[in-house]
Amino acid sequence: TPESRYEAENGLVSQGVVESNHAGFSGTGFVNYDNVSGSAVEFKVNADVAGPRQVTLRFANGTTANRPLDISVNGSLAVDEQSFAGTGAWTSWQTVTVTLDLVAGENTVRAVATTANGGPNLDYLEI
Ligand code: GCU
Ligand code: CA
Repeated sequence: TPESRYEAENGLVSQGVVESNHAGFSGTGFVNYDNVSGSAVEFKVNADVAGPRQVTLRFANGTTANRPLDISVNGSLAVDEQSFAGTGAWTSWQTVTVTLDLVAGENTVRAVATTANGGPNLDYLEI
């Protein structure tokens, strides 16, 4: 079972907006990344112990184009251009799991769009 769910709408959003117009999200909404490279969502993620951890991101991508995100941890690139493939509809939510090396306590996890399409719609990060 996950320790914690961090809703994207509670994250630090840079070039994006919190919306709720596509059903199926957790919490009160999701982040719609602006469709530009560099749009981002940042989470403060607490880990009880240091080390590599499975971290899940829930997203929707109603297009057929991949919407990759660079994922950094505490300022260092951890996953280069993680794929967020099309999910078939903006109301079809899927998860991607990545392994992130975290420190004990608070970590800054940032997910940055790397193409002019921006990121997928992002629902939450779960650890
Ligand atoms: C549509 C959709 C948005 C999505 C956007 C996009 O406008 O309603 O939720 O973010 O497409 O292509 O990024
Ligand atoms: Ca968007």
